[in-house]
Amino acid sequence: MTHAHVVYAHPSERSFTHEVLDAFLRGLGDAGHTHTVSDLYAMGFRPELTREEYERESGHRPDTGVPADVAAEHARLDAADAWAFIYPVWWADCPALLKGWFDRVWTVGYAYKPARLPVVRKAFALCTAGYSIAELESSGCYQAMKTAMLTDRIGERAKSSEFVVFGGSVMRNDAGDDHPRRWADLRAEHLARAAELARSI
Ligand SMILES: Cc1cc2nc3c(=O)[nH]c(=O)nc-3n(C[C@H](O)[C@H](O)[C@H](O)COP(=O)(O)O)c2cc1C
Repeated sequence: MTHAHVVYAHPSERSFTHEVLDAFLRGLGDAGHTHTVSDLYAMGFRPELTREEYERESGHRPDTGVPADVAAEHARLDAADAWAFIYPVWWADCPALLKGWFDRVWTVGYAYKPARLPVVRKAFALCTAGYSIAELESSGCYQAMKTAMLTDRIGERAKSSEFVVFGGSVMRNDAGDDHPRRWADLRAEHLARAAELARSI
C-alpha cells in the first residue's frame, strides 16, 4: 500500500482537470492506496512570498521558522510515499498558484540546502492541455515543462518521476464531425490512463 499526497490546482469542479483528479483518486482507492489532497484553490492557498519569506530563502536561513500553512504542507509531504501534481497547462506552465506553492513550500532546509524531506518512491506531474503532445513537442513547450517539473522542481526528491500530458482538449471546441478523433474517446482514454497510473503508484 502506498500513501500518496496530491497537489491539485484548478479553480473549477466542472473542468476536465477535475475529472482527471477524480479518476486518479478513484484509481488510488481501487488499488487500496491512501491519499491526502491539497486543493490549492479550495484552500485559498497564498502563492506569493512575503518579504520575510523571501529574506529567509535568499539569505539561506534554514534555522528560522516557516509560516504555518507551509509547515502544514511539509507535514503532508513528509507522510507520503508518493506525490502527484495535477493541474492544467496555462501559458506553457502550471497555474501561478502551483508555481507559488513551489516558491513557498520548497523552502531552504526542507527542499534544498540541505534537503530534509523524505525521498519519495514515485512522483507524477499530470497535466491537461489544449494542445496535443505532438504540438507541444514541436513548439518546445513539452520539453520545457517536463524539464521544469521533473528536473528542477521534483528533481532528486523522488526515486522516479513521470511527466504525463493529457492533451488535445482544444478539440472540445474546435473539432468538427470530420475530425479524425472524437474528444469523447480521447477523454475516456485519458481518464482510464489517469486511473491506471494511480493504481500503479
Ligand atoms: C489561461 C489559459 C491558458 C492556457 N494556456 C495553454 C497553453 O499554453 N498550452 C496548452 O496546450 N493549453 C493551454 N490552455 C488550455 C488548457 O490547458 C486546457 O483548457 C486544459 O485541458 C484544461 O481544461 P479544463 O480547464 O477543462 O480542466 C490554456 C487555458 C487557459 C484557461
